[in-house]
Amino acid sequence: MLRKLLIGTALASGLAFAAHAEDVKEVQMLHWWTSGGEAAALNVLKGDLAKEGYAWKDVPVAGGGGDAAMTALKAMVAAGNYPTASQMLGYTVLDYAAAGVMGDLTETAKKEGWDKSVPAALQKFSVYEGKWVAAPVNVHSVNWLWINKAVMDKIGGTEPKTFDDFVALLDKAKAAGVIPLALGGQNWQEATMFDSVVLSTGGPEFYKKAFNDLDDASLKSDTMKKSFDNLAKLVTYVDPNFSGRDWNLATAMVIKGDALVQVMGDWAKGEFHAANKTPGTDFLCYRFPGTDGSVIYNSDMFGMFNVPDDRKAAQVALATATLSKSFQSAFNVVKGSVPARTDVPDTDFDACGKKGIADLKAANEGGTLFGSLAQGYGAPPAVANAYKDVVSKFVHGQIKTSDEAVTELVKAIDDAK
Ligand code: BGC
Repeated sequence: MLRKLLIGTALASGLAFAAHAEDVKEVQMLHWWTSGGEAAALNVLKGDLAKEGYAWKDVPVAGGGGDAAMTALKAMVAAGNYPTASQMLGYTVLDYAAAGVMGDLTETAKKEGWDKSVPAALQKFSVYEGKWVAAPVNVHSVNWLWINKAVMDKIGGTEPKTFDDFVALLDKAKAAGVIPLALGGQNWQEATMFDSVVLSTGGPEFYKKAFNDLDDASLKSDTMKKSFDNLAKLVTYVDPNFSGRDWNLATAMVIKGDALVQVMGDWAKGEFHAANKTPGTDFLCYRFPGTDGSVIYNSDMFGMFNVPDDRKAAQVALATATLSKSFQSAFNVVKGSVPARTDVPDTDFDACGKKGIADLKAANEGGTLFGSLAQGYGAPPAVANAYKDVVSKFVHGQIKTSDEAVTELVKAIDDAK
């Protein structure tokens, strides 16, 4: 679909910009980093590029998981109006590369040694048919709990190690009159949480089979049904106003102590960081109960478009800055993620960041690093969207039982494949 839409414009834009004058000293970037923590992280990049004389042309489109941003990107590209780069997730990069609209950063990659420093799990999505088409910015991980420490102390809670422990902890918060679970009722947030629930319920092998291999028997299994049961249980701990709430507002509930915990990717830590909160003192980061040892990841990539020649120097500057070791440390400290290179010291990271770096390394070596289905790394966008839709309908009561949810999930994924 994407290919058909874009193929004509790839040619058209090439022709339209065939004549070029001097290099354009500007980077145009489409992204969905609009929260406080995200904006602070993006400022690190803007600052680095400004030092090299590049102006920043911002194209922000809010919405985690990037659905709205990707709609905007499609329209821009279809009009032959390529940004220098766009924030993208996993399979989306490959889609655009297959449509023939991405640039080729291989020369820069060779000069900078990306082959050696970027882990294979990321190269799978940033290199297409031997060419570097995207610069990975970070590695995020979704199977985390973010907990308000003062509330935890008040209710006498301890780290939950199993799903049942987690439920018991949520019950304690409820008894103390605190909102147990801060959730934003948007499909991508619900599905991001469900990624963790499935890993916890079925274990690493099951998660991989169901959500990376799309194995039919796993998708229709009793374990998947049990996963929906567990999700339904969690939803009983959410406040009545959760529908449509933005993720960063859910994080703010935890930061303020209005809620005990949020299940969210480590971009949530960027919000704690922006609010000057310290892990261990103000908040706690634990792996989602029952998922210790595994990491469900996504990575923000800057997809590099085949821009006209006079804009290529700016693109190379952006790509080089993005993968520099100093930027990888400075940016990810603020963003809540961990570096997309394996050779960046963890010195400047807080305790949660250090744990994130160590967990990623161990999972990568131990074969327990899995792509997030909700976040574009489990399967192509059509499948991910079908998944988000079913999970959300279940959370909001349009799908009533776990049995029905399993049937709908299998059907939706089948149709989308
Ligand atoms: C991105 C993060 C972002 C989050 C919320 C995720 O899809 O990978 O970088 O912070 O959405 O906007």
